[in-house]
Amino acid sequence: MTERSLILVKPDGYRRGLTGEVLRRIEAKGYTLAALAVTTPTREQLAAHYAEHEGKPFYEPLVEFMSSGPVTAVVIEGEECIKGFRSLAGATDPTAAAPGSIRGDLGRDWGEAVQQNVVHGSDSPESAAREIGIWFPGLSS
Ligand code: CMP
Repeated sequence: MTERSLILVKPDGYRRGLTGEVLRRIEAKGYTLAALAVTTPTREQLAAHYAEHEGKPFYEPLVEFMSSGPVTAVVIEGEECIKGFRSLAGATDPTAAAPGSIRGDLGRDWGEAVQQNVVHGSDSPESAAREIGIWFPGLSS
């Protein structure tokens, strides 16, 4: 089924100049780009995006990090692209992510690695619809 997913190149990926490499992998996989924006997220936007994590120990540092600089928000489109992108991204922890995946190849293995793990991708059709609404109001999921 053709789906849309919301991808973020996080501030670490943006700062390290990895946006093009992430987009290249998305396009090489055969997904198309339906929308793209470079923006420094507000805390309000992040509170909405990370609502399910509110109260967890990593929530505050995560919001702090995610609002520390520009991110590239991208809506991708393609067959099973929600699950497919999560596969391209690899495990959340770059140290555990398989070589060949974005986090396995590009994620760092030290410092705040789990938090600064280069990319975010929606984890379900419901999350994708919700997240696309947060980052691209007016765009249909
Ligand atoms: P993301 O896909 O953006 O969704 C939630 C984020 O929380 C996740 O990627 C990680 O960056 C971050 N995260 C998840 N677990 C932890 C953790 N144990 N410590 C710090 N950050 C975490």
